[in-house]
Amino acid sequence: MVGQGTWYIESADRGSAIAALRHGIDLGLTHIDTAEMYGSGAAEELIGEAIAGRRDELFLVSKVLPQNASRSGTIAACDRSLARLGSDRLDCYLLHWRGRHPLEETIAAFEQLKQQGKILSWGVSNFDVGDLDSVLKIAGEGNLACNQVLYHLEERAIEHAVIPWCERHHVALVAYSPFGHGRFPGQRTTGGRLLNQIATAHQATVRQVALRFLARRPSLFVIPKASSIDHVAENAGAADLRLTETEIALIDKEFPLGPRSNHLPTL
Ligand SMILES: NC(=O)c1ccc[n+]([C@@H]2O[C@H](COP(=O)([O-])OP(=O)(O)OC[C@H]3O[C@@H](n4cnc5c(N)ncnc54)[C@H](OP(=O)(O)O)[C@@H]3O)[C@@H](O)[C@H]2O)c1
Repeated sequence: MVGQGTWYIESADRGSAIAALRHGIDLGLTHIDTAEMYGSGAAEELIGEAIAGRRDELFLVSKVLPQNASRSGTIAACDRSLARLGSDRLDCYLLHWRGRHPLEETIAAFEQLKQQGKILSWGVSNFDVGDLDSVLKIAGEGNLACNQVLYHLEERAIEHAVIPWCERHHVALVAYSPFGHGRFPGQRTTGGRLLNQIATAHQATVRQVALRFLARRPSLFVIPKASSIDHVAENAGAADLRLTETEIALIDKEFPLGPRSNHLPTL
């Protein structure tokens, strides 16, 4: 349910970031999310160092940039990511967001990579329902593994249509920026106080409550990024937390859904 994000991880102290990733794996945070975009490959290189000798424990995910996502460009980008990660395969390979290359080309490349054993599954990121319909038309049911999307307490727009679409088609939802990319509700806000009250009742922390709320449905996964052992350990603790229906309803009310139009971000 909880994985490890790695956007900007290369900017942290290298030793501490590597130790954090390894500690996360020890604690069961074996889903590691990265992208060729992160640090222009530097994040993948750092992960390669962190996961050396532990590849089989992981669910390793990377992403191709839209400008590279032509048929041959996707294959070449995947090879570069694998080399930086020091791995012979990705568990899942994603199109980072929809760009100018036809989806048919990217999907054909994904299928080719799958046949070659270089990826075990593929998915998309930042796709709204219209884009998801296009993928389904090209690839058919059962081939799209996941849609990775922005989802945190103050940005719940995917609940309008994207979550229902993905659940209908058995596509996993991976919530990125689950802490709002550093904009977590402050302790003195009413939302912060509610999270604190719920956390205290469970001897948990506010961030664990937030992660558990976001991953409250079986279709949902969260990939917080942390570059310290303490943060990773705290995030891992979310997996053991169980919120009551009443607590979920209170959080739901305090952090309202917002309009559908305020949805997927532009990067
Ligand atoms: N597909 C996409 O388009 C897309 C877009 C954005 C993100 N992502 C993925 O999703 C991942 C997560 O999103 P994000 O990096 O944007 O932001 P995030 O996970 O919402 O927030 C990361 C921030 O929270 C801090 N943090 C983590 N655990 C904490 C804890 N227990 N207590 C206090 N602070 C904590 C981190 O600090 P430290 O680093 O100091 O620990 C970092 O500053 C990314 O790393 C990336 O893998 C994907």
